[in-house]
Amino acid sequence: MTSSASPRQLFVTTALPYANGKFHIGHIMEYIQADIWVRFQRMQGHTVHFVCADDAHGAPIMIAAEKAGKTPQAFVADIAAGRKPYLDGFHIAFDNWHSTDAPENHALAQQIYRDLKANGLISSKTIEQFYDPDKGMFLPDRFIKGECPNCHAKDQYGDNCEVCGAVYAPTELINPYSALSGATPVLKTSEHFFFKLSDPRCLDFLKAWTTSGAVQPEVLNKISEWLTPDPETGKTALGDWDISRDAPYFGIEIPDAPGKYFYVWLDAPVGYLASLKNYLDRIGIDYGAFMANPDVEQVHFIGKDIITFHTLFWPAMLHFSGRKVPDKINVHGFLTVNNGEKMSKSRGTGLDPLKYLGLGMNPEWLRYYLAAKLNARNEDIDFNPDDFMARVNSDLVGKYVNIASRSASFIHKFFDGKLSQSQTTIGETTSEGPILVVLGSEGQIRQDFEQREFAKAIREIMRLADEVNAYFDRQKPWELAKHPEARNALHEVCSNCIRAFQVLTVYLSPILPHVARQAYRSLFSLDRQPLWSDLRGLADAIGTYHHLMQRVDVKQLDALFEPPAAPEPEKRVPGGEDIAPVITIDDFAKIDLRIAKIVNCEPVEGSTKLLRLTLDVGEGKTRNVFSGIASAYKPEQLVGKLTVVVANLAPRKMKFGLSEGMVLAASHADEKTHPGIHVLEPWPGAQPGMRIH
Ligand code: MSP
Ligand code: ZN
Repeated sequence: MTSSASPRQLFVTTALPYANGKFHIGHIMEYIQADIWVRFQRMQGHTVHFVCADDAHGAPIMIAAEKAGKTPQAFVADIAAGRKPYLDGFHIAFDNWHSTDAPENHALAQQIYRDLKANGLISSKTIEQFYDPDKGMFLPDRFIKGECPNCHAKDQYGDNCEVCGAVYAPTELINPYSALSGATPVLKTSEHFFFKLSDPRCLDFLKAWTTSGAVQPEVLNKISEWLTPDPETGKTALGDWDISRDAPYFGIEIPDAPGKYFYVWLDAPVGYLASLKNYLDRIGIDYGAFMANPDVEQVHFIGKDIITFHTLFWPAMLHFSGRKVPDKINVHGFLTVNNGEKMSKSRGTGLDPLKYLGLGMNPEWLRYYLAAKLNARNEDIDFNPDDFMARVNSDLVGKYVNIASRSASFIHKFFDGKLSQSQTTIGETTSEGPILVVLGSEGQIRQDFEQREFAKAIREIMRLADEVNAYFDRQKPWELAKHPEARNALHEVCSNCIRAFQVLTVYLSPILPHVARQAYRSLFSLDRQPLWSDLRGLADAIGTYHHLMQRVDVKQLDALFEPPAAPEPEKRVPGGEDIAPVITIDDFAKIDLRIAKIVNCEPVEGSTKLLRLTLDVGEGKTRNVFSGIASAYKPEQLVGKLTVVVANLAPRKMKFGLSEGMVLAASHADEKTHPGIHVLEPWPGAQPGMRIH
C-alpha cells in the first residue's frame, strides 16, 4: 500500500501567529489542515517534524505591550501561555511551539543577514519617514492617521482609505497625526537596510523556483505579476525590500548597525528554522546535518494573505544565504463564519474556539467538518451551523459510526467476539463485497490526502460507508439471526462490516485521531494510532463496542452563536462609596470650611502615615493639624500651598499631639484597588481665612 521505498523526511510548519492575541477559528482551521496532512504522512511511516512558534516582534506588539503596562517579553510570554488549551483541545500535534524572540532565532536571523550581505545582496540608503516627536519613534504606516487626500474622509490609516479604497503614502494624508500620541508627525531621515530583490540573480532564481511546482497554480498566477517585466519599461514590480527599523523596536538587532533592528517580517519566517532547531537540539538530532540533507522536504502551510512573504522574500532569503529552499508552500483560503466577513486579525468574529470546547462540543466534529470543505486550492470556506450539524450527524455518526454499532453486537452475541475467517460475501459477487469495495479506493484516498484534497477523500469515504450500510441492509443480519442455520452467513456479513469499518477508521484517522484511537483500543484491542499498513492485516476478533461519537445537539450550536450575555449594567458607586444621606443647607452651614495656608510641614516621627501641618487660617496664630497624607506627599511639596480645612472641628488629642482641624483631601473608598490621596487646593486668589460656602 505504501509504495515509496524509503520513508520521507518532512519538515512541516504553519504560519507563526502574531503574539498579540488569542487564536481565532481561522488559526485553528490552518492548524487542523496541516495536522491532518502531517498525521496522514506519519501513518505512511514517514518522519515528520511539525513545528510552529509565536511571531513575537514588531511595532504593534511593542505598542500593545506598552498599553498593557508590560514589557514586550512579558506580554508575549502571557500570550504563549494561553496557546496550549487550543492546541490540545483540537488534537493539533505540533512537536514544538517556540518563539521568534528565542535565542535560536536571534542567532539564525543574524547569520542569514550576514550571509546575504556577504553575497552582495544588502544595500543601505537614507529615507525620510514620519516620526512621532512625542513618542520619540518612527511611525509605522498603520499608526499614522489623517484625512484621506482623495475623498477627505477623516481618521484614515497612513497607507489606504477604508472609505474610498484609495492607496497612498502617509505623507499624502491631510493633517496627519500620530495614532499613538495625537502629535503631528514630522519628517525625519534615517538610514535603512534593503534586501536587493531587484538584483537580476534574485529575479532569475525566483522565476525558476516559483515555476518548480512549489506553489499552487493560482498562487503562481498571483505572484507572476511581481516577476513579469513591464513591456514598456522592461522593469519588474519587485523592488528592494526594506528590512530595517529604528529603535525603539521590539525585534532582533542588526549586526554592526547600532540602533537598527530587523523588520519583523525578516525574522518571522526564520522562526520556522529556530523552532525546528530548538526541537532537534532537544531530541538529539543535529540541526545542521538535518537541513543539509537534500532529501528533507520543507513544507509550509499558510493563508492567502501572506503569499508574497513566503513565495518571494522567504525563498530568496534562504537561497542567497546558502540554505535549503522550501519544497512546497501550501496556501489555503480564509474561513468565514455564517458567511460573515472574514475574520479580522485582531478580532476573531463568529466562532470562539475555546467557547466551542467549553460547551463540550467534540473537537473532531470541527476537524471533520473543515476537512469536508477543504481542498488543495486557496478558496475561502464558510462555517455554516446547519451544514455542520447535517454533515456530522448524518455522515459521520449516521454512516461511519453506525457500521460498527450495528455489526458489533451480533459478533459478540453469537460469535464470542471472533470474526469469520472467510472474506467472501454471501449472496453477492466478490467484487461487490464491502471489504473489497472499501479497500479498492485506497489508492485514490491516499492520493487525495497527499494532495490535500480532503473534501474529495471524505466524499469517497462516505460513499464507501454508504455501500457498506447498503450491504448490511440487503443482507438483513437481524433476519439471519433468527435462523440458526444461517449462522455462517450472519457471521460473514457482520465480520465483513466490522473489517470494512476498520478500513474506514484507517482512512479517517488523520481527521479523527481520537475516535480512531478509541475504536482501535476498544474494538480492535490495539493501543495505538492506526497505521496505513494495517490495511494489509485486518482484525480477526473484536473487543467490546463503546459508543464512539455523540450527535451534535442543536442547543449546543445555539449556545455557541449566542452573543455573549450583555454585562449587567455596572452599578456605579462613585469613588467606591455611596453618596451619604441628604442633609439640609442648615446642616451644611454647621461645617466651617476655611482656606488655610500650609506654612510648615514635617514628617511625624513614629508614624508612616501622618504629616504634621502648621496652618495659617487667618486667625493671627497658627494651628497644628495632623493629616494622613504621608503616602502621597513629601513635606516640601506642601509647604507654601493653600488648602481647605474644617475649622470648627472639635480638637482631637492624638498620640503625637493635639490636632486642631482637618485638611480636606479626596480618595477612593478602596485604597487597595485605587491608591492615591489628593489634597484640595483652591483656585488662585483665595486667601487664608476665607470661608467656603
Ligand atoms: N505573523 C504572521 C505570519 C508570520 S509567518 C512567518 C501572521 N500572523 S496571523 O496571526 O495574522 O495569521 C496567522 C495565519 O492565520 C496566517 O496563515 C493567516 O493567513 C491565517 N489566518 C488568519 N485569519 C484566517 C482566517 N479567517 N481563515 C483562515 N486562515 C486565516 O500573518
Ligand atoms: Zn478616501
